[in-house]
Amino acid sequence: MTDKLYKPSEKTINEAIIKEYDNKYKFSIDNSDKYWEEQAEYLDWYKKWDKVVDESNAPFYKWFSGAKTNIIHNAIDRHLSDSHRNKLAFIWQGEPGDERHFSYHKLDKEVSAFANILKAMGVRKGEIVTIYMPQIPELIFAMLACAKIGAAHSVVYAGFSREALAERIKDASSKVLLTADGGWRRGKIVDLKSIANEAMKRSPTIEVCITVKRTGQEVEMEQNRDFWYHDLCALPIASGKCETEEMNAEDMLFILYTSGTTGKPKGIVHAHGGYSVYISSVLRTVFDIKEDDRWWCAADPGWITGHSFIVYAPLINGATTVLYEGAPTYPYPDRFWRIISNYGVNILYTSPTAIRGLMRFGDSWVKKHDVSSLRLLGTVGEPINPAAWEWYYNIVGDGNCQIMDTWWQTETGGFMISPYPITPLKPGSATKPLFGIDADVVDEDGNKVKPGEQGILVIKKPWPGMAQTILHDADRFKEVYWSKYEKQGWYLAGDSARIDEDGYFWIIARLDDVIKVSGYRLGTAEVESALVSHSSVAEAAVITLPHELRGNAIHAYVILSQDYTASDKLNDIIKEHVRSEMGPIAVPETIKFVDSLPKTRSGKIMRRVLKAKAQGLDPGDLSTIED
Ligand code: WTA
Repeated sequence: MTDKLYKPSEKTINEAIIKEYDNKYKFSIDNSDKYWEEQAEYLDWYKKWDKVVDESNAPFYKWFSGAKTNIIHNAIDRHLSDSHRNKLAFIWQGEPGDERHFSYHKLDKEVSAFANILKAMGVRKGEIVTIYMPQIPELIFAMLACAKIGAAHSVVYAGFSREALAERIKDASSKVLLTADGGWRRGKIVDLKSIANEAMKRSPTIEVCITVKRTGQEVEMEQNRDFWYHDLCALPIASGKCETEEMNAEDMLFILYTSGTTGKPKGIVHAHGGYSVYISSVLRTVFDIKEDDRWWCAADPGWITGHSFIVYAPLINGATTVLYEGAPTYPYPDRFWRIISNYGVNILYTSPTAIRGLMRFGDSWVKKHDVSSLRLLGTVGEPINPAAWEWYYNIVGDGNCQIMDTWWQTETGGFMISPYPITPLKPGSATKPLFGIDADVVDEDGNKVKPGEQGILVIKKPWPGMAQTILHDADRFKEVYWSKYEKQGWYLAGDSARIDEDGYFWIIARLDDVIKVSGYRLGTAEVESALVSHSSVAEAAVITLPHELRGNAIHAYVILSQDYTASDKLNDIIKEHVRSEMGPIAVPETIKFVDSLPKTRSGKIMRRVLKAKAQGLDPGDLSTIED
């Protein structure tokens, strides 16, 4: 790890909002209510709050309690009153090269039509609509339309399997599913409707499925349940104004499933008020975003990064947001740089995996294009290795754009630890906590660890973007995030970290059984349960090992059931099974057939022993091992 300091460039420092980090940080922590109230004043409210944060039922904090709002009021409606409505809200590029542009005025029309259709289909305030779509404009319209009428959305990443989709529909008790025939990825059609159909066979709650035509292949539609979106758009029900529903600040905006320690994914709940304030505030301050900016968050809308930073935060800030449908290297490895140069993108926000994936093709693909419109760069999802950082900084940013390495989580709503444009950078460090965020690194007992020592990352004060709860499982919410430091009332992030002599935070790894592959978050337990659901697998354990491109790769150890013998063919069959149970991102890189697994005497698999062995390292303390 290098400790060289990268000073902010001329290009950003003049425009930075934040001049004196230390003083301002201290003020924001000592007066956090005041700080968040100031941030909330950037937004319009139907009715303002009685209290900035109601802590009476902690850890179920209620932000801006008593306030009335709707995220759509800030993301769309307030931009319609003046000439801003003619500004570009959203530029979309499909993988085959097709493009669509939407002004705020046009976005409002699209969202209102979708909202009218949802209402006509019986969707009511408070219910949860499941969305399973490729990265097309209608995905964004669908999310915004749900929010507009006060329904919550649950977007299921389009790479997930029918099993994963069915499980999420069931947990949310959705009556309506929104999908598409398919999407484009690496020049091929990714089938979605057929997977949705399979999932619906297992989902008795679904009454209506609306399908957007994207790819045009034959799909199976069931009478009285299935409707084409374009058919519904042509009906009178779709036209006309649709009022934005007035919501309480703490009403549910969306749920998003994310992986945890156990096999069952957690439905993380975010609310209209606090979330709106938080994500728009951190985007405005960290990326110094302005209405004239073209902001490209090259993530999938199906994950929190897309929810907060493709859809909601840039729109609330009145900027232009870019969405690209397909693979970064299709048809050539310059697709990103071409998009940046074509649209004059000012800020690019992506993942270390994407950067490493593009870096391996060399500098010339970048140099071919004029990407000088870039002012700032960003990264998220996993620690960025210094080599990728340097390439991003020197080649993509031409040594002229600061890199905002943002640490945060599905549960935090938005960035938590990150530089501001004026922060001197150290490659690989997310630098310092943002204003209002009381982050620290402590030991098991909650004592602050010494500079440079590894410890447990905690957040000591609530913040407006924090998750409200886990859907249908408030106890699990308390247990997972708030029980370890219950006495102190701190949030347990689940990551280990260290703070160096200069107060810079270095995120090290997950402390729990959550794994990160290409920045995607999965649980070892989810992958293991997908493995053992195959008849040949009696027991399974999953570890990750470092991978040059993906950060981490999954490796599985499997004990076969009686009657099965190890073979390459069986190896492939099991991989295919995981693909259909969970989706392609969960497929192990290798599967090893073994006769036994290292276990504690209480029967827990000791994954760290497997990992150490695979890396040729000392497995450490083996006193609790059974055999
Ligand atoms: C990891 C993604 C290092 C971390 C927004 C966290 C990071 C988990 C960074 C959350 C970063 C995210 N540096 N690690 N800049 N950003 N992580 O919920 O382990 O998909 O706990 O949210 O990703 O993953 P999630």
